Amino acid sequence: MSKRIFNSIWTASMVVLLASLLKRIQIQKLQHKRDRAEIEKAALIRQEFTANVSHELKTPLHAISGYAELLEQGMVEEADIKPFAGKIREESERLTQLVEDIIDLSKLDSGGGGLQLEDCDLYRIVLKAANNLESEAKAAGVKVRIHGDGARLQSNQQLLYSIVYNLCDNAIKYNRRNGKVLMEVYSTPRETLLRVTDTGIGIPEESFERIYERFYRVDKSRSKEVGGTGLGLSIVKHAVLILGGKIEVKSEMGLGTEFSVILPNQWRKVDECA
Ligand SMILES: Nc1ncnc2c1ncn2[C@@H]1O[C@H](COP(=O)(O)OP(=O)(O)O)[C@@H](O)[C@H]1O
Ligand SMILES: [Mg+2]
Repeated sequence: MSKRIFNSIWTASMVVLLASLLKRIQIQKLQHKRDRAEIEKAALIRQEFTANVSHELKTPLHAISGYAELLEQGMVEEADIKPFAGKIREESERLTQLVEDIIDLSKLDSGGGGLQLEDCDLYRIVLKAANNLESEAKAAGVKVRIHGDGARLQSNQQLLYSIVYNLCDNAIKYNRRNGKVLMEVYSTPRETLLRVTDTGIGIPEESFERIYERFYRVDKSRSKEVGGTGLGLSIVKHAVLILGGKIEVKSEMGLGTEFSVILPNQWRKVDECA
């Protein structure tokens, strides 16, 4: 091989090497930029959450101290004492629910690292949640039906209960008088499906993504009226992801809503199921 040919081959390979090095540096820079953007976004979400938590906690506390002050100063007529005490109890219950939901969320935020896997039966969990929500359903004039059969999976009992309870609670709360809720559980060899269908007010399509955000409510006043914290569906979504599953919603305004949760029968890490 002549020296000239050797030189040009050498130069060409150096150019290729250099180009690939430059490309790698560019990719790394881009990755770094993306990582930074992710970190900044997470910090912003945390800040927003803290501000929202403070606001949401203050509202019932102000109401409680306001009512108590009026009672203390004897400014409430005899006949109004009972309703005032009732308001104090309602607001305290709201506060308790809020604190419980925040604790649930912060536990979920620390991830599924210490997730305890156990033999679960989703059908039995559905029976238990429906049973615990019986008085709410009765008060709202809503009938809850359950379909399915034993559905065993390796998962986490407490997280599954949170998912089922919150979905059933919403299906009752955002329903109409004499409305219906159907809870279905089906198993295949690999997956278990939970479907919660209601005949309620529906969710507008533009809110489908946002309903899982912390403190997001389609109708803030209705949610407050029925005792909502705006955290239920973020707990559900978080728990579903930790359990390696997915969640979908379909809804028609004024006709009803259907939430479907698909869970693996054998727990896998979230990134393995993506
Ligand atoms: N089954 C449903 N039917 C209609 N709207 C629903 C349903 N489930 C959730 N939503 C809407 O999504 C919002 C977020 O739900 P969630 O996180 O459980 O909060 P909340 O504490 O208000 O119930 C609710 O405020 C409500 O507007
Ligand atoms: Mg809810």
